[in-house]
Amino acid sequence: MRNWKEKTIAISSERLSLVPIEGGDGREILEWINNGEIVSNFQFFTGAFSIEEESRYLTKMADSPTDFLLGLFINNGRFIELIGTCGLHEIDFKNDTARLGIIIGKKEHWNEGYAREAIRALLGFAFNAMNLHKIYLNVFVTNGKAVHLYAQVGFRIEGTLRSEYKIRGGYVDMYRMAILREEWKKSV
Ligand SMILES: CC(C)(COP(=O)(O)OP(=O)(O)OC[C@H]1O[C@@H](n2cnc3c(N)ncnc32)[C@H](O)[C@@H]1OP(=O)(O)O)[C@@H](O)C(=O)NCCC(=O)NCCS
Repeated sequence: MRNWKEKTIAISSERLSLVPIEGGDGREILEWINNGEIVSNFQFFTGAFSIEEESRYLTKMADSPTDFLLGLFINNGRFIELIGTCGLHEIDFKNDTARLGIIIGKKEHWNEGYAREAIRALLGFAFNAMNLHKIYLNVFVTNGKAVHLYAQVGFRIEGTLRSEYKIRGGYVDMYRMAILREEWKKSV
C-alpha cells in the first residue's frame, strides 16, 4: 500500500479515534509540548515553542511521505477530546520499517490504558494496511513506565544504545525495542 497517505484513513479502537492531525489542533498540542513534566523525556522540547512553530511542524508532518502523525481523540458519542498524539516516523518502504512515537498530553488521562489501546490500533494499521514488517522505537532505560507499556503490547528489547541521547547536559542510555509483524499476528 504505497499511496496509503492519500487514502481516507480511519483507525479506531474501543474508546479512541486516531485521526490525522490538522493545523487547527496546534494550540492544544502546544500546551503539552511546552509542559516540562509531559515532555521531560524529549530533547527537542525546550518549553518555548510558539504556535507558528507548532503549526509549521504539523504541516510538515502532514506533507511528509515518511511521517504519519495522528491525534488521539476520546469519542464517547457525547464529546470529543484530543488527549495525545501517536505516529509512525522514518517510514521506510524499502525495508518495511517505521519508528513509533506516542505522547498522552493530558496527564489526567495517564494510566487509563489509552496509550496501550492507541499503540495496538496503530500497530494493526501498520502491519495490516501498510504492510510493514517491523516497528521499532527508542526509549530511555529509566522510563520504566514506557518500557513496561511497550513490552505489554509485544515490543522486545533488542539492545541498549549506550550514551545515545544528550539531555540536560548528560548522555543517557536508551533501549531499542521492536516488534515484528509475525509476532504481532500471533498476539492478536
Ligand atoms: C508513557 C505514556 C505514553 C503512557 O501513557 P498511558 O496512557 O498513561 O499508558 P497506559 O495507561 O496505556 O499504560 C501504562 C502502564 O504503565 C504502568 N505504569 C504506570 N507507572 C509506571 C511506572 N512508574 N513503572 C512501570 N509501569 C508503570 C501502568 O500500570 C500501566 O500498566 P498496566 O496496564 O500493566 O497496569 C504517557 O505517560 C506519556 O505520554 N508520557 C510522556 C511522554 C513519554 O514518555 N512518551 C514515551 C516516550 S518513549
